Formats: sequence, C-alpha cells, structure tokens
Amino acid sequence: MADKLIDVILFGTEIGKLGYDMDLKKCYFQYNPDFLESQTYTKIFPYIIRRIKPVQVFKEFEGETFRGLPPMVADSLPDVFGNIIFQEWFTAKHKDLKISPLEQLTYVADRGMGALEYRPVKELPKASKIDIEEIVNVLEKVLKLKDDTSGENLSDLSLLNIFKIGTSAGGARPKILISEHKESGVIMAGDRIYSEEYNHYLVKLHMSEESNYNKEKVEYAYYLLAQEAGIEMMSSKLINNKHFATLRYDRQNGEKQHVLTASGLTGWDYKLPDDSTYENLFKLAIGLEVPHKDLQQLFKRMVFNIIFRNVDDHLKNHSFSYNKESNSWNLAPAYDLTYALNPLLNFTKTSRALAINNKRQDINQNDLLAIAEEFSIKNPKGIIKEIQDLTSKWIDIATELEIPEKIIQTINNDLIILEA
Ligand SMILES: Nc1ncnc2c1ncn2[C@@H]1O[C@H](COP(=O)(O)OP(=O)(O)O)[C@@H](O)[C@H]1O
Ligand SMILES: [Mg+2]
Repeated sequence: MADKLIDVILFGTEIGKLGYDMDLKKCYFQYNPDFLESQTYTKIFPYIIRRIKPVQVFKEFEGETFRGLPPMVADSLPDVFGNIIFQEWFTAKHKDLKISPLEQLTYVADRGMGALEYRPVKELPKASKIDIEEIVNVLEKVLKLKDDTSGENLSDLSLLNIFKIGTSAGGARPKILISEHKESGVIMAGDRIYSEEYNHYLVKLHMSEESNYNKEKVEYAYYLLAQEAGIEMMSSKLINNKHFATLRYDRQNGEKQHVLTASGLTGWDYKLPDDSTYENLFKLAIGLEVPHKDLQQLFKRMVFNIIFRNVDDHLKNHSFSYNKESNSWNLAPAYDLTYALNPLLNFTKTSRALAINNKRQDINQNDLLAIAEEFSIKNPKGIIKEIQDLTSKWIDIATELEIPEKIIQTINNDLIILEA
C-alpha cells in the first residue's frame, strides 16, 4: 500500500510530490509541472531526479543509507545520532509503531538541514529558550551514558526539546542546533529560526560521561589548524570551553541555503567503498561546474586530511551549496575535520574512507601529485609543503587548549610525514 503523498518545498515553492510504497519498497517522485515550466532553479537536483513531467520511480536506494528515498531527499534525514533520539522520542509517544521514511520527513518538516522542506508538517510546540548544560544532562540519560538513570523517567518536555533540535543534522556524534541572539546572547532552539537577528550554530556536544578527554576540543584545535592552512570553514568557537559550535552554512543572511552532501547529490553510498574516492569527489565538483578555486580548495582539504590523519573523510563529510541567484553550485565550507581515531587505543594500520589513487593506506606524495595532475591543480607541491609545515603547530595549539598531554603526544606521533 502506498503511503500518503507528501509535498517537497524549496524556497517557498512546491517543487514536487513524493510517495513511498512500504510493501514494494519503491519511492515515487513527480515534479510539480508549474515548477518545471517556470524554468527557475533548474539545477537544484543535478543528478538522479530528471527534469521530466511523468512520475519517476526509485527502487535502487534501499538500505540504511538512503532508506529507499531519492538520495537528495534522504539527505534530510538524520544518521546515527539523530535516529537514536528520533526513535527514543517516537517510541515514548507511540510505543512500538514503526515509522516510514516518508512520515519521518513530516517531522523533519521545515526544520531540516539545507533548504528542502516537507508538508504536511507535524506540529510541535514552538521554539523555546534552552540551556545547553541541561540538554547535555538529559542526553547523557537518553544515550544511557549514566548508569544510575534510565531514559524512561525523562520528562516529555526535555525529550521534546532534544527531539526538535537534535534530530536534524547527520553524523554520529551528539549534536544540537541552536540560535544565539546577536545582541542579547539568548540561546533559542535552532530548529525553526533563521532570521538575521541570530547566529545559527550546529553544536557538537561534549558528553562528560562518555570519555576521559574532550573530542570537541580536538576538533576545535583542528579547526584552528585548518584555518591556518587556508581551508574555508564557517567561523567556530567553543561554548563553555567544551562544546564545539560552528556557524551553519545552510543558514546565512537570514535565508536557508540549499546544500547537499556528495552522497546526497549522487546516490553514492558513503558507507560502501565502491564510489568512495577522492577522484569521484573531484569529478563531481567538475560535473557541478564549480569554479577552479574550489578544486584547489578540495585538493587542500585532501592533503590536510592525509597529513592530519582525518581518516573519516567520507562522502557525507563533503558538501556542496547551491546559489539560487546564479543557479550554480560551489563547494561548501569544510566541516568535521578532526583526528578521527581513538587516541587511547593503538592502531597499527588505519584505512581511510576515501581512496586516493586506489589506496586507502600508506598514501604518499606521488599519489597526491597524481590527483593534482589529473585535475589540473596548480602548485600541488607548495600546498603539500605548507600543510606539512603546519604539523609543527599542533603541540602549541593543543597545549594552549589544555588538551591532555597524552592525547597531544599520541596524535602528534600519528601525524603523517609524506614520503616522496
Ligand atoms: N557548519 C555547518 N553548517 C551546516 N551544516 C553542517 C555544518 N557542519 C556540519 N554540517 C552538517 O551536519 C552533519 C553532521 O556534522 P559532522 O560535523 O559531520 O558531525 P559528525 O562528527 O557526527 O559526523 C554533516 O554531515 C553536515 O551535513
Ligand atoms: Mg560527519
């Protein structure tokens, strides 16, 4: 049986309708003919969904990553962390009812990442002031990080607050969306507000019960290093000296920006090795006709990820953003740049998410230069040297942030010196 249809909205216009057949596991999308005829925003979905009037059927996107949906729509659903919270809240309300991806989108409604919105909207109580430490406290219970409490005695309201601001963004780490008033500093739930009066942050929360060092501080140290390397990132800060807050690139100038991950744009599954290569990422960027400077930037990010050992550089950790004035795409700012291994464990061999020159380990300077050659990158040796030299700053930056000495040393020993 097919679920009810839902509307897909972008920039205030209904661009199409989505249907989903739970039994046949098929998804249907049909463009709104008026939208097609308007000839506006013609490049919002450059791949997979075609600009045609008939209904398009998708059945190849079954599985955990896309959940049967066209990948650009699946990008609106959360990943590991958001889904845990979603399930916790949903089962508290509806016991063991199963929810279809389409119904989940009606909860995403107009609070998703990027600019895509879905109707009908499941109404939830309006935005409220929030207290980050209180949220962390509740989250530690929900995630069962505290032994002495179970998730069951959480109040409806605290769970609802977390549900609203914790289930939009992707990724595995605990995170929430907040909006901070530019003048008063008051922090509001960031699911719905996008006005210019606020700064909109994605906040990666430090759960004190989870581990004995602060991963968010390490991510902040990496942010400082990336900035020195000339990698474009949204301005970021530590909140209460422990949570990593980064301004949202999908909320700028009081407007929602249409953004998609590399996985959402293409249907390449970020969990599978098949399409997970830097070459594909460069080809995607070229296919989207980004300016050449974005390719230079992508090269820089690749080199940074190698040297600073960010092995978790998968296809959902790279995004592109659409410019609706020029109907064109750009590389989005970098995010999730961090030391992705657990420094308290010993890894002898580690394999990165994106292959380079058919390798996921022991990547050397020649592999990087091969990519530079293939995609006409200027001054690759200069870029590599600049980022290599930056490794000498890790200890100072990390020490300044009071990251534990043992963690600083382990990461330092793990930074890569590229061999020719
Ligand atoms: N500054 C940002 N602005 C808007 N969206 C972001 C930003 N940073 C990350 N995201 C989105 O949120 C998702 C989760 O963030 P990420 O830092 O990757 O968390 P995790 O460590 O859990 O993977 C990303 O995949 C990306 O789509
Ligand atoms: Mg991530």
